[in-house]
Amino acid sequence: MPTSHTAIVILGASGDLARRKLIPALSRLYEHKQIDDSCIIVGSGRTVFSDEEFRNRFEVSRDFAGQLHYHQGITGLKSYIKSKGIFDQVIFFLALPPKVYAATAGQLYDEGFGEETRLIIEKPFGYDYDSARGLNRHLQEYYNERQIYRIDHYLAKEAVQNILVFRFGNSIFYPVWNSNYIDSIQINAYESIGVEDRGAYFDGAGIIRDMVQNHLMQLICLLTMEAPVSLDPEEIRAQKINILKALRVTDCCRFQYNGYRDEAGVAPDSSTETYAELKLFIDTYRWNRMPVYLRTGKALHRKGTEIGMRFKKPPRLLFNKNGDINPNEIIFKIQPSAGIVVEMASKVPGSDVQIIDTSMKFCYIDSFKDEIPEAYQKLLLDAIKGDRTLFVSALETELSWKKFGPFLDAGNLNHHARGTAPEPCLYKEWINFDKYDSLCR
Ligand code: BG6
Repeated sequence: MPTSHTAIVILGASGDLARRKLIPALSRLYEHKQIDDSCIIVGSGRTVFSDEEFRNRFEVSRDFAGQLHYHQGITGLKSYIKSKGIFDQVIFFLALPPKVYAATAGQLYDEGFGEETRLIIEKPFGYDYDSARGLNRHLQEYYNERQIYRIDHYLAKEAVQNILVFRFGNSIFYPVWNSNYIDSIQINAYESIGVEDRGAYFDGAGIIRDMVQNHLMQLICLLTMEAPVSLDPEEIRAQKINILKALRVTDCCRFQYNGYRDEAGVAPDSSTETYAELKLFIDTYRWNRMPVYLRTGKALHRKGTEIGMRFKKPPRLLFNKNGDINPNEIIFKIQPSAGIVVEMASKVPGSDVQIIDTSMKFCYIDSFKDEIPEAYQKLLLDAIKGDRTLFVSALETELSWKKFGPFLDAGNLNHHARGTAPEPCLYKEWINFDKYDSLCR
């Protein structure tokens, strides 16, 4: 069913995000008939454009281009939208620098946008606990939490959404999903590119703010939360919040790639980390004393996000008298290709008791032929429908900042060669995730 009577306003419409992601995503929703002619899209910004000039900035179909309009600035926007029709909801995408989020919310409120309003905002939500709390309080002066949609684009990845289905749609894994059976959870999020043209932003942030506090925390929540009583977004959030409350970060090693200080926008004596390895615990009955290890960084030897659930070793009995059978592992390959692998021991045919590692695999490319929707396509459609499942609540962001507070900009900084991952620092027995790199491609 196409969703109708919606005005979508992109604030900062002359910027890169609108051109690269938002307009193409809306165009695909239109081509797939998930939005129709009763939905208008208004670009807004400081630049002066006619509708025609604005439309010409994008490579979209003529029909879709007819849905695009432009209005300069926020003043007068309310009556401009009214002149286009009656809209049940007006969704603002703040494609703007984070420092103006709060002021922009105030301007929209003053312009007369009330109950019908939804605000979509991008990370970063603050810089630390205090600033995130301050931002949330400011936004909530004008709009209530129900109207605020905070994006974490990791939640829009299909393989990430599948984590809950894997856990709660398959009864075989449920009984073993706890620290009695699982020895550790390991998350690897590697990027091969450096900071590229985002040096100035990144140098003020670092990898813990940029990747760990948000994206990797969301992965941990989905992997470890209790089953919600329903799929209502609030029920899911409540379970994620319990994990964030129980989370305890114990150790962190920070690294910077050689050459980072020569990148554009980066301070020549920068002590910002571009790579971090962290250890944490989740102090709940289910996860008591089981470590979670995280590693993430830029300018490494490959791009890949993988999660490994390593099970406990089998007892030293029967086939494992020498203790040389490897533990079972479940690997979630999130990107660039997506799939799931279950590692298990098998007997080599013909031998008496020679046992080797073998695996069972599920690859998205083998099972699903259809195009996987791009993150912004999914997120914009959900915001239009009012489904907040894939958006992050104020409390989630605040709790997560609180837990990482002591590790922000703190501790020794080590260096590593560009194009290689640093040696493990906190944990020596990391799963060899590199071996899954070519899988499911
Ligand atoms: C963004 C970070 O949130 O996520 C970037 O700001 C990072 O620094 C990006 O590169 C990674 O996203 P993905 O989807 O490529 O893993």
